[in-house]
Amino acid sequence: MLKRLLPILIAVALVGCKNQQLKQTEVGSGKFAVNKQVEAKVDSLLSLMTLEEKIGQLNQLSGNGEVTGPISFPAEYMEALRKGLVGSMLNINGAAYTYKVQKVAVEESRLHIPLIFGYDVIHGYKTIFPIPLGEAASWDMEAIEKSARVAAIEASAAGQHWTFAPMVDIARDPRWGRVMEGAGEDPFFGSAVARARVKGFQGSKLSDTSSIAACAKHFVAYGAAQAGRDYNTVDISERTLYEVYLPPFKSALDAGVVTFMSSFNELNGIPVTGNKAMVNDLLKEKWGFNGFVDSDWGSIREMIYHGYAANEYEAGYLAMSSGVDMDLEGRIYLAQLKKLVEDGRITVEQLDEAVRRILRVKFELGLFDNPYKGCDSIREKELLLNPRHLEIAREVTRKSLVLLKNENVLPLSRNIRSIAVVGPLADNQDELIGTWSGRGEGKHVVSVLSGIREKLPNGNIYYAKGCEIVGENKAGFDEAINAARKADAVVVVVGESAMMSGEALSRAFLDLPGVQKDLVMELNALHKPLVVVVMNGRPLTIEWMDKAVPAILEAWLPGTMGGLAIADVLFGDYNPSGKLPMSFPRNVGQIPIFYYQKSTGRPPRQEERYTSKYIDSPVSPLYPFGYGLSYTTFEYSNLSISSPSIKMDETLKVSVDVRNSGKYDGEEVVQLYVRDMVGSVTRPIRELKGFKKIFIKSGESARVEFSLTSNDLAFYNQNMEYIAEPGDFMLFIGGNSDASLGLGFRLEE
Ligand code: GLC
Repeated sequence: MLKRLLPILIAVALVGCKNQQLKQTEVGSGKFAVNKQVEAKVDSLLSLMTLEEKIGQLNQLSGNGEVTGPISFPAEYMEALRKGLVGSMLNINGAAYTYKVQKVAVEESRLHIPLIFGYDVIHGYKTIFPIPLGEAASWDMEAIEKSARVAAIEASAAGQHWTFAPMVDIARDPRWGRVMEGAGEDPFFGSAVARARVKGFQGSKLSDTSSIAACAKHFVAYGAAQAGRDYNTVDISERTLYEVYLPPFKSALDAGVVTFMSSFNELNGIPVTGNKAMVNDLLKEKWGFNGFVDSDWGSIREMIYHGYAANEYEAGYLAMSSGVDMDLEGRIYLAQLKKLVEDGRITVEQLDEAVRRILRVKFELGLFDNPYKGCDSIREKELLLNPRHLEIAREVTRKSLVLLKNENVLPLSRNIRSIAVVGPLADNQDELIGTWSGRGEGKHVVSVLSGIREKLPNGNIYYAKGCEIVGENKAGFDEAINAARKADAVVVVVGESAMMSGEALSRAFLDLPGVQKDLVMELNALHKPLVVVVMNGRPLTIEWMDKAVPAILEAWLPGTMGGLAIADVLFGDYNPSGKLPMSFPRNVGQIPIFYYQKSTGRPPRQEERYTSKYIDSPVSPLYPFGYGLSYTTFEYSNLSISSPSIKMDETLKVSVDVRNSGKYDGEEVVQLYVRDMVGSVTRPIRELKGFKKIFIKSGESARVEFSLTSNDLAFYNQNMEYIAEPGDFMLFIGGNSDASLGLGFRLEE
C-alpha cells in the first residue's frame, strides 16, 4: 500500500506543506467552505503545474464502460493520463478498473495528481431504488437521504468519488422524459429533496470512505424545455427562473454540494454553459459557490449548434469565461485553452481559478491522501447488493407507492383462494430498474409475480402476460382473460418500458403504450376485484382507467425490490403513504399543468362561458400534486393559528388535529399551503410552505404544528427584490394541494 502512495507523498511534500490531517468539510452544515490548509496545498501544487497540466485538470473523459452521451472521439486515453492531460474520468466502473486507471494517472504522470472518478449514480449504484420521481413520492426526507447514503456506500466501494446527482430540475411538463430523474413540480418540495440527497451522497465528511461528491444538475431551468422536448429552448421570465427553477439549486448549495453541472439548454437566448450571468455572477459570486462546475456531455461544443459560438475556439472561450470549470467529454478545453491563454482571451488567473476549484474538491475528498480510495474489491464484494441495502430499498420503495384509487379491493387477503397476475410488466425484471440505473441488473430485480408468490407460497396464482408493452398484438388476451376468470382477484401490471422515460426520451402522447388499455378494459369487464399496478417514469393520462377500474396503485419504476414492496402494499403488510410530486393531467392538452397556478382575471368556472377554461376538458388535473390515498382515512379538524396577524419579525404558529378514523394504522403527509391574496405581483392560488409525514395509529389523533414567518411569505416584487408585503393571506392544510380546510391571517408592517 505504501508503495502505491509514495508518489503522492512526494507530490504533496513537493507542495511544501506537512501532510497533516485536514479539517474536513462538514457536509450539511452549510455551503461548501474554503479550508485554509487545503488552499495552501492547492497554491503550492498550482505553482508546480505547467500550462498543459493545468488544462489537463479541466478535461473529463468518458471511459468505455458504457457511454451516456454521443461519444465524440475514440476513448484511447492512457497516453493522456501519463501526460497529466486528464483531470477526471466517468463511466469507469469497479474497484479493479478504477485502480488500474488511477495507478497510471498517479504513478506514471509527472505530478501524480489523482483523477476524480464520476458516474451517474441517480437512484442507486447496484441496489437500485425507485426512480427519483418515485422516491420523491415518499415525501420522506429521511428515507430519501438513506437511499442516497446506500447509493454512496456502494458507489464508493466500486471506486467512484462523485455522482452526477441530485438532478434538481423542476418539471411541470410530463412529456419531458427526464421528469423521472427529479422531484417533480414544486420548488419548496424540490428544495427539501435536494437537501436530503446531497446529505445522503456526501455523508458527514467528504473524505470518509463512503462519501462521494454530489452534483446539483442541470443548472439551470433544463426542465422548462418548450413542449417537453428534451434539450429544447427555454424561455421563461426572470421571476419564474428565481421563484421556480433556482430554489432547489440554492438548497443544494446550502446543503454543501461541491459540484454543479451546467445544462444543455439555452436560457432566454443564452446557452447556460456559456452564460456568465448565471454561472459566474450568480452561482459563484453572488451565492458564493466554492466547488467546481462541470459542463454537461459536450455542452461546450453544442454552443456551436445553438448558433451561439462560431467555432470550438469561441465555444471554449465562452464556457471558460462564464465559469464552467470542467469540460465533460467535449475535449474543447484540451484543444483550445492553450491558444486562448496565449492569445490573452483567457487569463492565467481564470485558468488557475478553475484548476483551483477542482483540486480543492479532490483534496477535500481525501484523494491526495489516498488516491485509491474505494479501490477495494473485497469491500466492493461485501457491500454491493448486501442484504441490509436490499432491505432499505424495500422500505423506501414501499413508501414511494401511491394509492390512486381503491374501491374496497385492497388490501387483498392472504387467505385468498386464487389470484391472477397478468400484464406485460407482471413478470418483468429488466424494465423495473428504469433508466439511469447505474450498474443495476434486471436479474437481481424481484418481479411483481415473484413478490406475490412470496406472499402466497401455497396460493393458486395464475400468470399470463396478455400482451407486450408496445405493439398491436392481442393474441395473448385470451390467456389473460382465462387466468382472470379462474381467479378470485386480478392484479394487472401495465405501464411504460424503462426506455420510455429518461434522457432524450420525451413523449408526445401519455397514454399506456400498445394495447395495454384494451387488456385492462377486457379484464375489468369480468367485474372481479381488480387492481391495476401502473409502472411509469412520468404522469400518464389514465382518466379512462380512473373511471373504469376499482383500484389503482402507482408504482413508478420501482427498482430492485419493486415486486416485494408492491406485494407488501397489495396484501396490507404496509399501508400505502405516497403522495404525488407531480400533477397527473387528464390529457396532454392541459400541459403544462401544476397546482400553483395563478388566479387570472377570469378564474376558471366550467359552467361560465367567459372564464379561463377549456370547452372540451376540465381544468383540474386527474390527480393533484400531493395526492395519495391510504387504507385508512385521516380527518383534519381544529385548525388554529397563534394570532390573527403577525408583524414582519414575528412567527405564526399553525396547528391542526389529524385523526386516523379508519381501521388501519398509517402515515399521512400533512401539507401546509399559503395564498397571498393581493401582491404587487400576482401570486399563485396556493404555494406549499410546509409538510410533515406522521404515523398515526388507528383511532388515534395527532396535533401537527407548523411555523410561518414573513420570509416564508416573501416573493420577488416588480423590482425583483425578495420581500414580503403586508396584507391578507389564506392558509390551507390537508392531505393534498386541493386541501379545503383553511384560515385567514394578516401580515402587518
Ligand atoms: C448526460 C446527462 C447528464 C449526465 C452526463 C454524464 O448527457 O445530461 O445528466 O450526468 O451526461 O453521463
